[in-house]
Amino acid sequence: MIDLLDLNPLTPMHETVRRPLHTETTTSQALYLPIAPPTLGTAGAVIGRELYSGKAFIYCPFCAFGDGLPGGNMIVMGDTGRGKSALTKTYAARQIRLGRRVVVLDTKEQKEREEGEWAALCRSVTGRSPVRFAPGGGTGTARINPMDPTIAGKRQVELVRTIVELGLGKPLDEFAGSALRLAIRQARRRADADGRTPVLADVAAALRSPDAADALAKKRTREQLLADGLEASYVLDRLCGSDQDAAGDLTGMLDGPTSLGVDLDADMIVFDLTRIPSGGVAMTILVAVISVFLEEVWLRPVCECGTEPGRHERRVVDAHSGAWELGAAPATGCRRYTQRKRILVCEEAWHVLGTPRLAALLEKFLKFARGYGLSCVFIVHHLSDIDDSPETQAALKMADTVVVYSMKKAEAEDTARRLGLPAWTAEHITRLRRGVALWKVGEVIYPGVQHLLTEAEQHLCFSSGSMTDLATTAPDPA
Ligand SMILES: Nc1ncnc2c1ncn2[C@@H]1O[C@H](COP(=O)(O)OP(=O)(O)OP(=O)(O)O)[C@@H](O)[C@H]1O
Ligand SMILES: [Mg+2]
Repeated sequence: MIDLLDLNPLTPMHETVRRPLHTETTTSQALYLPIAPPTLGTAGAVIGRELYSGKAFIYCPFCAFGDGLPGGNMIVMGDTGRGKSALTKTYAARQIRLGRRVVVLDTKEQKEREEGEWAALCRSVTGRSPVRFAPGGGTGTARINPMDPTIAGKRQVELVRTIVELGLGKPLDEFAGSALRLAIRQARRRADADGRTPVLADVAAALRSPDAADALAKKRTREQLLADGLEASYVLDRLCGSDQDAAGDLTGMLDGPTSLGVDLDADMIVFDLTRIPSGGVAMTILVAVISVFLEEVWLRPVCECGTEPGRHERRVVDAHSGAWELGAAPATGCRRYTQRKRILVCEEAWHVLGTPRLAALLEKFLKFARGYGLSCVFIVHHLSDIDDSPETQAALKMADTVVVYSMKKAEAEDTARRLGLPAWTAEHITRLRRGVALWKVGEVIYPGVQHLLTEAEQHLCFSSGSMTDLATTAPDPA
Protein backbone atom coordinates (compact mmCIF):
# COMPACT_ATOMS: atom_id res chain seq x y z
CA MET A 1 0.00 0.00 0.00
CA ILE A 2 2.80 2.41 0.94
CA ASP A 3 4.58 1.82 -2.37
CA LEU A 4 1.52 2.62 -4.38
CA LEU A 5 0.82 5.89 -2.64
CA ASP A 6 4.43 6.99 -2.88
CA LEU A 7 4.40 6.81 -6.68
CA ASN A 8 3.63 10.14 -8.24
CA PRO A 9 0.51 9.40 -10.26
CA LEU A 10 0.56 12.75 -12.04
CA THR A 11 3.80 12.32 -13.92
CA PRO A 12 2.94 11.44 -17.52
CA MET A 13 5.07 8.27 -17.66
CA HIS A 14 2.88 6.75 -14.98
CA GLU A 15 -0.37 7.60 -16.68
CA THR A 16 -0.65 4.42 -18.62
CA VAL A 17 1.34 2.19 -16.31
CA ARG A 18 -0.57 -0.25 -14.20
CA ARG A 19 0.29 0.15 -10.50
CA PRO A 20 2.52 -2.66 -9.28
CA LEU A 21 0.79 -4.80 -6.72
CA HIS A 22 3.01 -7.29 -4.89
CA THR A 23 1.04 -10.37 -4.08
CA GLU A 24 3.93 -12.79 -3.49
CA THR A 25 3.92 -12.64 0.26
CA THR A 26 1.15 -13.95 2.39
CA THR A 27 0.86 -10.54 4.06
CA SER A 28 0.04 -8.74 0.84
CA GLN A 29 -2.23 -11.56 -0.28
CA ALA A 30 -4.14 -11.07 2.93
CA LEU A 31 -4.18 -7.31 2.37
CA TYR A 32 -5.36 -7.54 -1.21
CA LEU A 33 -8.69 -9.16 -0.47
CA PRO A 34 -10.10 -6.44 1.72
CA ILE A 35 -8.73 -3.64 -0.45
CA ALA A 36 -9.86 -4.88 -3.84
CA PRO A 37 -13.58 -4.25 -3.91
CA PRO A 38 -15.80 -5.23 -6.82
CA THR A 39 -15.91 -2.76 -9.69
CA LEU A 40 -18.96 -0.60 -10.26
CA GLY A 41 -19.57 -2.03 -13.71
CA THR A 42 -18.74 -0.63 -17.10
CA ALA A 43 -21.57 1.86 -17.63
CA GLY A 44 -21.06 5.51 -16.68
CA ALA A 45 -18.41 8.19 -16.67
CA VAL A 46 -14.78 7.12 -16.64
CA ILE A 47 -13.10 8.66 -13.59
CA GLY A 48 -9.66 7.11 -13.92
CA ARG A 49 -8.05 4.12 -12.33
CA GLU A 50 -8.48 2.15 -9.12
CA LEU A 51 -4.86 1.95 -8.04
CA TYR A 52 -4.94 -1.32 -6.11
CA SER A 53 -6.53 -3.43 -8.81
CA GLY A 54 -5.28 -1.37 -11.78
CA LYS A 55 -8.79 -1.48 -13.22
CA ALA A 56 -10.61 1.43 -14.80
CA PHE A 57 -12.83 3.22 -12.31
CA ILE A 58 -16.18 4.03 -13.84
CA TYR A 59 -18.88 5.74 -11.84
CA CYS A 60 -22.42 6.82 -12.49
CA PRO A 61 -24.98 7.22 -9.72
CA PHE A 62 -27.77 6.55 -12.21
CA CYS A 63 -26.25 3.35 -13.61
CA ALA A 64 -25.13 2.06 -10.19
CA PHE A 65 -28.42 3.01 -8.55
CA GLY A 66 -30.04 0.07 -6.81
CA ASP A 67 -29.28 -2.16 -3.86
CA GLY A 68 -25.62 -1.12 -3.61
CA LEU A 69 -26.24 2.61 -4.09
CA PRO A 70 -29.54 3.76 -2.63
CA GLY A 71 -29.26 7.39 -3.78
CA GLY A 72 -27.39 9.58 -6.24
CA ASN A 73 -26.03 12.35 -4.00
CA MET A 74 -22.33 12.80 -3.56
CA ILE A 75 -20.00 14.79 -1.35
CA VAL A 76 -16.41 15.57 -2.33
CA MET A 77 -14.04 16.76 0.39
CA GLY A 78 -10.37 17.37 1.05
CA ASP A 79 -7.70 20.01 1.57
CA THR A 80 -7.28 22.84 -0.88
CA GLY A 81 -5.60 22.08 -4.20
CA ARG A 82 -6.03 18.30 -4.00
CA GLY A 83 -8.23 17.97 -7.09
CA LYS A 84 -11.85 18.22 -5.89
CA SER A 85 -12.94 20.74 -8.53
CA ALA A 86 -10.90 19.09 -11.29
CA LEU A 87 -12.66 15.79 -10.57
CA THR A 88 -16.09 17.38 -10.50
CA LYS A 89 -15.54 19.41 -13.67
CA THR A 90 -14.40 16.46 -15.76
CA TYR A 91 -17.04 14.22 -14.20
CA ALA A 92 -19.74 16.76 -15.17
CA ALA A 93 -18.37 17.09 -18.71
CA ARG A 94 -18.16 13.32 -19.10
CA GLN A 95 -21.72 12.89 -17.80
CA ILE A 96 -22.94 15.51 -20.29
CA ARG A 97 -21.57 13.29 -23.04
CA LEU A 98 -23.89 10.59 -21.65
CA GLY A 99 -26.87 12.93 -22.09
CA ARG A 100 -27.14 14.38 -18.57
CA ARG A 101 -27.91 18.04 -17.84
CA VAL A 102 -25.79 19.86 -15.29
CA VAL A 103 -26.32 22.98 -13.16
CA VAL A 104 -23.42 24.44 -11.19
CA LEU A 105 -23.40 26.98 -8.36
CA ASP A 106 -19.92 28.42 -8.84
CA THR A 107 -18.62 30.43 -5.90
CA LYS A 108 -14.90 30.39 -6.56
CA GLU A 109 -13.38 33.25 -8.53
CA GLN A 110 -10.19 32.82 -10.49
CA LYS A 111 -8.72 36.16 -9.52
CA GLU A 112 -6.40 36.55 -12.47
CA ARG A 113 -9.22 35.87 -14.94
CA GLU A 114 -11.93 37.77 -13.06
CA GLU A 115 -14.44 35.02 -13.62
CA GLY A 116 -15.66 31.88 -11.91
CA GLU A 117 -13.71 28.62 -12.08
CA TRP A 118 -16.40 26.93 -14.14
CA ALA A 119 -16.71 29.68 -16.78
CA ALA A 120 -14.26 28.12 -19.24
CA LEU A 121 -15.94 24.72 -19.04
CA CYS A 122 -19.38 26.32 -19.43
CA ARG A 123 -18.28 28.14 -22.59
CA SER A 124 -16.60 25.05 -23.95
CA VAL A 125 -19.72 22.88 -23.42
CA THR A 126 -22.47 25.36 -24.33
CA GLY A 127 -20.77 28.27 -26.11
CA ARG A 128 -22.41 30.60 -23.54
CA SER A 129 -21.15 32.44 -20.50
CA PRO A 130 -22.37 31.69 -16.96
CA VAL A 131 -25.42 33.41 -15.47
CA ARG A 132 -23.78 36.09 -13.35
CA PHE A 133 -25.14 37.63 -10.16
CA ALA A 134 -23.59 40.77 -8.70
CA PRO A 135 -24.57 42.98 -5.75
CA GLY A 136 -26.23 46.08 -7.17
CA GLY A 137 -26.91 44.32 -10.50
CA GLY A 138 -25.56 46.04 -13.63
CA THR A 139 -25.35 45.16 -17.31
CA GLY A 140 -25.24 41.47 -18.12
CA THR A 141 -26.19 40.41 -14.60
CA ALA A 142 -29.12 38.19 -13.67
CA ARG A 143 -32.02 38.53 -11.26
CA ILE A 144 -34.41 36.01 -9.70
CA ASN A 145 -37.69 37.09 -8.17
CA PRO A 146 -38.64 35.00 -5.10
CA MET A 147 -42.22 36.20 -5.71
CA ASP A 148 -42.16 34.86 -9.30
CA PRO A 149 -45.49 33.17 -10.14
CA THR A 150 -43.57 30.10 -11.43
CA ILE A 151 -42.88 29.26 -7.77
CA ALA A 152 -45.92 27.47 -6.38
CA GLY A 153 -47.86 29.21 -3.58
CA LYS A 154 -46.82 27.16 -0.54
CA ARG A 155 -43.22 26.90 -1.67
CA GLN A 156 -43.13 30.66 -2.15
CA VAL A 157 -44.33 31.34 1.38
CA GLU A 158 -41.66 28.96 2.70
CA LEU A 159 -39.00 30.66 0.59
CA VAL A 160 -39.85 34.25 1.59
CA ARG A 161 -39.96 33.15 5.22
CA THR A 162 -36.49 31.56 4.83
CA ILE A 163 -35.19 34.84 3.34
CA VAL A 164 -36.57 36.88 6.26
CA GLU A 165 -35.30 34.41 8.87
CA LEU A 166 -31.83 34.31 7.30
CA GLY A 167 -31.79 38.12 7.25
CA LEU A 168 -33.02 38.29 10.84
CA GLY A 169 -30.67 35.57 12.07
CA LYS A 170 -33.41 33.76 14.00
CA PRO A 171 -36.74 32.02 13.35
CA LEU A 172 -39.93 34.11 13.17
CA ASP A 173 -42.41 33.56 15.97
CA GLU A 174 -45.97 32.39 15.27
CA PHE A 175 -47.44 35.94 15.07
CA ALA A 176 -44.75 37.28 12.72
CA GLY A 177 -44.96 34.11 10.56
CA SER A 178 -48.70 34.57 10.22
CA ALA A 179 -48.36 38.30 9.38
CA LEU A 180 -45.83 37.40 6.68
CA ARG A 181 -48.11 34.78 5.13
CA LEU A 182 -50.95 37.29 4.97
CA ALA A 183 -48.66 39.96 3.51
CA ILE A 184 -47.46 37.63 0.74
CA ARG A 185 -51.07 36.90 -0.21
CA GLN A 186 -51.89 40.54 -0.16
CA ALA A 187 -48.81 41.51 -2.22
CA ARG A 188 -49.91 39.04 -4.89
CA ARG A 189 -53.47 40.44 -4.91
CA ARG A 190 -52.32 44.07 -5.13
CA ALA A 191 -49.80 43.38 -7.91
CA ASP A 192 -52.42 41.35 -9.83
CA ALA A 193 -54.77 44.30 -9.65
CA ASP A 194 -52.02 46.52 -11.14
CA GLY A 195 -51.34 43.90 -13.83
CA ARG A 196 -47.70 43.29 -12.82
CA THR A 197 -45.59 40.64 -11.10
CA PRO A 198 -45.22 41.03 -7.32
CA VAL A 199 -41.73 41.57 -5.90
CA LEU A 200 -40.27 41.47 -2.38
CA ALA A 201 -40.81 45.22 -1.93
CA ASP A 202 -44.57 44.56 -2.29
CA VAL A 203 -44.38 42.12 0.63
CA ALA A 204 -42.57 44.74 2.75
CA ALA A 205 -45.25 47.30 1.83
CA ALA A 206 -48.08 44.85 2.62
CA LEU A 207 -46.51 44.12 6.03
CA ARG A 208 -46.65 47.87 6.75
CA SER A 209 -50.25 48.26 5.61
CA PRO A 210 -52.11 45.15 6.73
CA ASP A 211 -55.62 44.50 5.54
CA ALA A 212 -58.43 45.14 8.06
CA ALA A 213 -60.26 41.97 6.89
CA ASP A 214 -57.10 39.86 7.47
CA ALA A 215 -56.75 41.31 10.98
CA LEU A 216 -60.38 40.56 11.75
CA ALA A 217 -60.08 36.98 10.51
CA LYS A 218 -57.13 36.49 12.87
CA LYS A 219 -58.90 38.18 15.81
CA ARG A 220 -56.23 40.91 15.87
CA THR A 221 -56.56 44.65 15.47
CA ARG A 222 -54.87 46.25 12.46
CA GLU A 223 -52.30 47.78 14.84
CA GLN A 224 -51.53 44.38 16.35
CA LEU A 225 -51.11 42.80 12.91
CA LEU A 226 -48.87 45.71 11.91
CA ALA A 227 -46.73 45.20 15.03
CA ASP A 228 -46.53 41.43 14.32
CA GLY A 229 -45.01 42.00 10.88
CA LEU A 230 -43.09 45.26 11.29
CA GLU A 231 -39.72 43.69 12.05
CA ALA A 232 -40.01 41.39 8.99
CA SER A 233 -40.72 44.45 6.81
CA TYR A 234 -37.57 46.15 8.16
CA VAL A 235 -35.54 43.03 7.30
CA LEU A 236 -36.88 43.03 3.73
CA ASP A 237 -36.11 46.76 3.41
CA ARG A 238 -32.57 46.18 4.61
CA LEU A 239 -32.04 43.26 2.25
CA CYS A 240 -33.63 44.75 -0.86
CA GLY A 241 -32.97 48.42 -0.17
CA SER A 242 -35.69 51.07 -0.05
CA ASP A 243 -36.10 54.78 -0.68
CA GLN A 244 -35.06 55.50 2.92
CA ASP A 245 -32.31 52.85 3.19
CA ALA A 246 -29.26 52.68 1.00
CA ALA A 247 -28.88 49.68 -1.37
CA GLY A 248 -29.43 46.37 0.44
CA ASP A 249 -27.47 43.09 0.39
CA LEU A 250 -29.78 41.66 -2.26
CA THR A 251 -30.27 44.77 -4.39
CA GLY A 252 -29.97 44.00 -8.09
CA MET A 253 -30.25 40.25 -7.51
CA LEU A 254 -33.57 39.35 -5.87
CA ASP A 255 -35.52 42.60 -5.78
CA GLY A 256 -37.11 42.73 -9.23
CA PRO A 257 -38.75 40.55 -11.88
CA THR A 258 -36.79 37.47 -12.97
CA SER A 259 -34.32 38.03 -15.80
CA LEU A 260 -31.91 35.15 -16.26
CA GLY A 261 -31.27 35.04 -19.99
CA VAL A 262 -30.72 31.32 -19.71
CA ASP A 263 -31.72 28.37 -21.85
CA LEU A 264 -33.17 25.97 -19.28
CA ASP A 265 -32.58 23.09 -21.70
CA ALA A 266 -28.85 23.77 -22.10
CA ASP A 267 -26.47 20.89 -21.30
CA MET A 268 -24.85 23.01 -18.62
CA ILE A 269 -25.99 26.10 -16.72
CA VAL A 270 -23.46 27.77 -14.45
CA PHE A 271 -24.64 30.31 -11.87
CA ASP A 272 -21.67 32.55 -11.21
CA LEU A 273 -21.88 33.67 -7.57
CA THR A 274 -18.25 34.72 -7.33
CA ARG A 275 -19.09 38.40 -6.81
CA ILE A 276 -21.22 37.68 -3.76
CA PRO A 277 -19.32 38.13 -0.47
CA SER A 278 -18.39 34.68 0.79
CA GLY A 279 -20.01 33.59 4.04
CA GLY A 280 -22.41 36.57 4.04
CA VAL A 281 -26.16 36.56 4.28
CA ALA A 282 -26.59 37.42 0.57
CA MET A 283 -24.81 34.22 -0.51
CA THR A 284 -26.93 32.05 1.76
CA ILE A 285 -30.17 33.67 0.63
CA LEU A 286 -29.21 33.56 -3.04
CA VAL A 287 -28.41 29.83 -2.85
CA ALA A 288 -31.77 29.21 -1.13
CA VAL A 289 -33.65 31.12 -3.84
CA ILE A 290 -31.76 29.52 -6.73
CA SER A 291 -32.36 26.00 -5.36
CA VAL A 292 -36.11 26.59 -5.03
CA PHE A 293 -36.25 28.27 -8.44
CA LEU A 294 -34.42 25.32 -9.99
CA GLU A 295 -36.82 22.92 -8.39
CA GLU A 296 -39.76 24.79 -9.91
CA VAL A 297 -38.47 25.51 -13.41
CA TRP A 298 -35.53 23.22 -14.19
CA LEU A 299 -36.56 19.97 -12.55
CA ARG A 300 -39.70 19.48 -14.60
CA PRO A 301 -40.28 15.81 -15.44
CA VAL A 302 -39.15 15.35 -19.03
CA CYS A 303 -38.15 12.32 -21.07
CA GLU A 304 -34.69 11.85 -22.61
CA CYS A 305 -36.45 12.45 -25.97
CA GLY A 306 -37.41 15.96 -24.78
CA THR A 307 -41.15 15.41 -24.39
CA GLU A 308 -43.31 15.86 -21.29
CA PRO A 309 -44.80 12.76 -19.60
CA GLY A 310 -48.28 13.80 -20.86
CA ARG A 311 -47.17 13.19 -24.46
CA HIS A 312 -46.32 9.57 -23.73
CA GLU A 313 -48.93 6.84 -23.98
CA ARG A 314 -50.01 5.07 -20.82
CA ARG A 315 -49.30 1.35 -21.08
CA VAL A 316 -51.17 -0.94 -18.69
CA VAL A 317 -48.69 -3.45 -17.29
CA ASP A 318 -51.05 -5.35 -15.01
CA ALA A 319 -54.66 -5.74 -16.11
CA HIS A 320 -55.71 -6.95 -12.67
CA SER A 321 -54.60 -3.89 -10.68
CA GLY A 322 -54.68 -1.49 -13.62
CA ALA A 323 -51.03 -0.55 -12.93
CA TRP A 324 -49.55 1.42 -15.83
CA GLU A 325 -46.32 2.98 -16.96
CA LEU A 326 -45.41 5.62 -19.53
CA GLY A 327 -44.72 4.08 -22.91
CA ALA A 328 -44.11 5.47 -26.39
CA ALA A 329 -44.36 9.07 -27.55
CA PRO A 330 -45.75 8.76 -31.09
CA ALA A 331 -44.77 12.36 -31.94
CA THR A 332 -41.04 11.76 -31.42
CA GLY A 333 -40.82 8.04 -32.13
CA CYS A 334 -39.54 7.47 -28.57
CA ARG A 335 -40.38 3.93 -27.43
CA ARG A 336 -40.51 4.44 -23.68
CA TYR A 337 -40.49 7.31 -21.19
CA THR A 338 -37.10 7.56 -19.52
CA GLN A 339 -36.66 10.42 -17.07
CA ARG A 340 -33.90 12.82 -18.10
CA LYS A 341 -31.10 12.67 -15.50
CA ARG A 342 -29.67 15.82 -13.99
CA ILE A 343 -26.73 16.77 -11.84
CA LEU A 344 -26.51 19.78 -9.51
CA VAL A 345 -23.01 20.78 -8.43
CA CYS A 346 -22.51 23.04 -5.44
CA GLU A 347 -18.95 24.39 -5.06
CA GLU A 348 -17.91 25.51 -1.56
CA ALA A 349 -21.05 23.82 -0.28
CA TRP A 350 -20.38 24.78 3.32
CA HIS A 351 -22.45 27.88 2.50
CA VAL A 352 -25.36 25.48 2.23
CA LEU A 353 -24.51 22.62 4.55
CA GLY A 354 -23.15 24.93 7.23
CA THR A 355 -26.41 26.87 7.62
CA PRO A 356 -29.06 24.79 9.42
CA ARG A 357 -31.98 26.73 7.90
CA LEU A 358 -30.59 26.16 4.42
CA ALA A 359 -29.62 22.57 5.17
CA ALA A 360 -33.26 21.92 6.16
CA LEU A 361 -34.46 23.39 2.86
CA LEU A 362 -31.87 21.31 1.07
CA GLU A 363 -32.86 18.15 2.89
CA LYS A 364 -36.32 18.46 1.34
CA PHE A 365 -34.71 19.05 -2.04
CA LEU A 366 -32.52 15.96 -1.62
CA LYS A 367 -35.48 13.84 -0.61
CA PHE A 368 -37.19 14.81 -3.87
CA ALA A 369 -33.99 14.29 -5.85
CA ARG A 370 -34.54 10.59 -6.45
CA GLY A 371 -37.99 11.20 -7.88
CA TYR A 372 -36.60 13.81 -10.27
CA GLY A 373 -33.66 11.72 -11.47
CA LEU A 374 -31.32 14.25 -9.83
CA SER A 375 -27.89 13.74 -8.35
CA CYS A 376 -26.45 16.51 -6.15
CA VAL A 377 -22.69 16.93 -5.79
CA PHE A 378 -21.39 19.00 -2.86
CA ILE A 379 -17.80 20.14 -2.62
CA VAL A 380 -16.47 21.06 0.83
CA HIS A 381 -13.06 21.21 2.49
CA HIS A 382 -13.70 19.41 5.76
CA LEU A 383 -16.69 18.27 7.71
CA SER A 384 -15.42 20.48 10.53
CA ASP A 385 -16.37 23.51 8.33
CA ILE A 386 -19.93 22.33 8.60
CA ASP A 387 -22.36 22.94 11.40
CA ASP A 388 -23.21 19.92 13.56
CA SER A 389 -26.92 20.71 13.78
CA PRO A 390 -29.50 17.93 13.25
CA GLU A 391 -30.61 19.58 9.96
CA THR A 392 -27.06 19.54 8.64
CA GLN A 393 -26.48 15.97 9.78
CA ALA A 394 -29.68 14.90 8.04
CA ALA A 395 -28.59 16.58 4.80
CA LEU A 396 -25.14 14.97 5.07
CA LYS A 397 -26.65 11.52 5.51
CA MET A 398 -28.26 11.93 2.09
CA ALA A 399 -24.86 11.57 0.42
CA ASP A 400 -24.47 7.96 -0.66
CA THR A 401 -21.15 8.53 -2.40
CA VAL A 402 -18.31 10.19 -0.51
CA VAL A 403 -15.02 11.13 -2.13
CA VAL A 404 -12.23 12.02 0.29
CA TYR A 405 -9.03 13.70 -0.89
CA SER A 406 -5.99 14.21 1.34
CA MET A 407 -6.46 16.04 4.64
CA LYS A 408 -4.38 16.83 7.68
CA LYS A 409 -4.34 14.30 10.51
CA ALA A 410 -6.94 15.87 12.82
CA GLU A 411 -9.38 16.46 9.98
CA ALA A 412 -8.83 12.99 8.53
CA GLU A 413 -9.57 11.43 11.92
CA ASP A 414 -12.69 13.57 12.34
CA THR A 415 -13.86 12.70 8.81
CA ALA A 416 -13.32 8.96 9.30
CA ARG A 417 -15.21 9.09 12.60
CA ARG A 418 -18.14 11.16 11.29
CA LEU A 419 -18.51 9.10 8.13
CA GLY A 420 -18.18 5.81 10.01
CA LEU A 421 -15.11 4.78 7.96
CA PRO A 422 -12.78 2.06 9.32
CA ALA A 423 -10.02 3.37 11.61
CA TRP A 424 -7.19 2.62 9.12
CA THR A 425 -8.61 5.10 6.61
CA ALA A 426 -7.66 8.12 8.79
CA GLU A 427 -3.91 7.67 8.28
CA HIS A 428 -4.43 6.54 4.71
CA ILE A 429 -6.30 9.79 3.88
CA THR A 430 -3.39 11.93 5.15
CA ARG A 431 -1.08 10.25 2.62
CA LEU A 432 -3.17 10.49 -0.54
CA ARG A 433 -1.47 12.39 -3.36
CA ARG A 434 -3.06 15.11 -5.44
CA GLY A 435 -5.58 13.57 -7.84
CA VAL A 436 -5.98 10.39 -5.76
CA ALA A 437 -8.97 9.94 -3.44
CA LEU A 438 -10.69 7.41 -1.27
CA TRP A 439 -14.18 6.71 -2.59
CA LYS A 440 -17.02 5.28 -0.55
CA VAL A 441 -19.81 4.23 -2.86
CA GLY A 442 -22.76 2.99 -0.81
CA GLU A 443 -21.00 0.77 1.73
CA VAL A 444 -18.05 -0.19 -0.50
CA ILE A 445 -14.69 1.54 0.00
CA TYR A 446 -12.24 2.13 -2.85
CA PRO A 447 -9.09 3.29 -1.03
CA GLY A 448 -7.21 4.80 -3.97
CA VAL A 449 -8.95 6.11 -7.07
CA GLN A 450 -6.71 8.12 -9.34
CA HIS A 451 -8.59 10.69 -11.34
CA LEU A 452 -7.16 10.97 -14.85
CA LEU A 453 -7.31 14.21 -16.79
CA THR A 454 -6.98 14.10 -20.55
CA GLU A 455 -4.77 16.70 -22.20
CA ALA A 456 -7.83 18.51 -23.58
CA GLU A 457 -9.34 18.75 -20.11
CA GLN A 458 -6.23 20.03 -18.36
CA HIS A 459 -6.63 23.72 -19.24
CA LEU A 460 -10.29 23.62 -18.15
CA CYS A 461 -9.26 22.36 -14.72
CA PHE A 462 -6.12 24.44 -14.14
CA SER A 463 -6.84 26.49 -11.04
CA SER A 464 -3.31 27.19 -9.84
CA GLY A 465 -2.51 30.15 -12.11
CA SER A 466 -1.98 32.60 -9.26
CA MET A 467 0.48 30.29 -7.47
CA THR A 468 2.43 29.15 -10.52
CA ASP A 469 5.61 30.89 -11.70
CA LEU A 470 5.18 30.87 -15.45
CA ALA A 471 7.74 32.28 -17.90
CA THR A 472 6.59 35.76 -18.93
CA THR A 473 8.96 36.26 -21.84
CA ALA A 474 9.14 34.29 -25.07
CA PRO A 475 11.95 31.66 -25.09
CA ASP A 476 15.19 32.79 -26.70
CA PRO A 477 15.23 31.28 -30.25
CA ALA A 478 18.96 30.68 -29.90
N1 LIG B 1 -6.10 14.29 -11.35
C1 LIG B 1 -5.34 15.33 -11.65
N2 LIG B 1 -4.35 15.24 -12.56
C2 LIG B 1 -3.59 16.33 -12.86
N3 LIG B 1 -3.73 17.55 -12.30
C3 LIG B 1 -4.69 17.68 -11.40
C4 LIG B 1 -5.54 16.60 -11.02
N4 LIG B 1 -6.41 17.04 -10.11
C5 LIG B 1 -6.12 18.35 -9.92
N5 LIG B 1 -5.09 18.73 -10.68
C6 LIG B 1 -4.54 20.09 -10.73
O1 LIG B 1 -4.38 20.54 -9.40
C7 LIG B 1 -4.78 21.89 -9.26
C8 LIG B 1 -5.74 22.01 -8.11
O2 LIG B 1 -6.90 21.26 -8.40
P1 LIG B 1 -8.37 21.70 -7.97
O3 LIG B 1 -8.64 23.09 -8.38
O4 LIG B 1 -9.28 20.66 -8.46
O5 LIG B 1 -8.22 21.63 -6.38
P2 LIG B 1 -9.37 21.77 -5.26
O6 LIG B 1 -9.25 20.57 -4.39
O7 LIG B 1 -10.65 22.01 -5.90
O8 LIG B 1 -8.86 23.05 -4.46
P3 LIG B 1 -9.72 24.15 -3.68
O9 LIG B 1 -10.22 23.50 -2.43
O10 LIG B 1 -8.74 25.23 -3.39
O11 LIG B 1 -10.81 24.59 -4.57
C9 LIG B 1 -5.38 22.34 -10.59
O12 LIG B 1 -4.53 23.26 -11.21
C10 LIG B 1 -5.53 21.07 -11.38
O13 LIG B 1 -5.25 21.27 -12.76
MG1 LIG C 1 -11.92 23.71 -5.91
